[in-house]
Amino acid sequence: MTTSQQTAATLPAFPRASRVLSTTTFEAYRGITAGIDGWFSIPAVAIWDALLSFQAEQSIHGHLFEIGVWEGKSAALMAMHARSGEKLVLADFELKPKAIRRALSSAGIGEGVEVIELGGDSRALHMYPIHPECFQKVRWMHIDGQHSARAVSSDMALANQLLAPDGVLVIDDFFSWLYPQVTEAVLRYVRQFPDDFTLFLCGYNKAYLCRTHFAHRYLEFCAQELPEALSARGVESTLAKTTYPAEMNTFGIGPVFQDLTRRGPDWEPDMLRY
Ligand SMILES: C[S@@+](CC[C@H](N)C(=O)[O-])C[C@H]1O[C@@H](n2cnc3c(N)ncnc32)[C@H](O)[C@@H]1O
Repeated sequence: MTTSQQTAATLPAFPRASRVLSTTTFEAYRGITAGIDGWFSIPAVAIWDALLSFQAEQSIHGHLFEIGVWEGKSAALMAMHARSGEKLVLADFELKPKAIRRALSSAGIGEGVEVIELGGDSRALHMYPIHPECFQKVRWMHIDGQHSARAVSSDMALANQLLAPDGVLVIDDFFSWLYPQVTEAVLRYVRQFPDDFTLFLCGYNKAYLCRTHFAHRYLEFCAQELPEALSARGVESTLAKTTYPAEMNTFGIGPVFQDLTRRGPDWEPDMLRY
């Protein structure tokens, strides 16, 4: 038996945690989302809510930062997960303060959460005082501003300065046919700075990255808990890892495929390695 055969034989297929994270915030968000204009699909909401609940459970603290707010649809979920002492930083080229405040008040911002609105081009954010204040202290960052490769690269460079060691960076319109340059910019940046970012999950239009030294924790969460966490939120999905981790250690998540909750490689569909 070769070493890889031995590893495959001893690895439990689809190890699973027995608990499901609380869905209270997700249910509350579902009650307000229809009243806010914007782009945020329910499967993406469920993934965010699951990952943010995991952060809460793991006592991961830090600020929440969004580039590209529009009327606050995704910012409202960030607001619901923000805890006392954390900042919610909302940056947009053309801020819509009235609409954003309406969204945040329907979300109900927690006591002790500081909301900071920043108007202007995200490429100038590194010159704002918020940059040193948030340096390496952001636990959740969403890049959803200008969808040019140049802007995405620049926003990722900012995220590289701001993201905490245990934070998550989300990038919108990853693998979108409308914005192929976004996918190119994300993969190029990760390839250029493999010690800074790992792409641990993608699906439902978004890329999820974390610090490379923390990737094992988010990968483990995806493998063991994500499908059940989504199901508890009414989103049935298939989590896939269709190659060896040494080739690409990224989970894909999408609509149910072949009636499976978890899907390994074509040559070994019941084995998830990460
Ligand atoms: C797709 S919308 C954001 C959607 C929002 N996240 C939601 O949940 O509905 C894109 C936003 O990015 C903003 N934007 C475009 N170019 C930008 C730039 N260079 N810097 C900052 N924001 C930008 C636009 O003003 C717009 O509000």
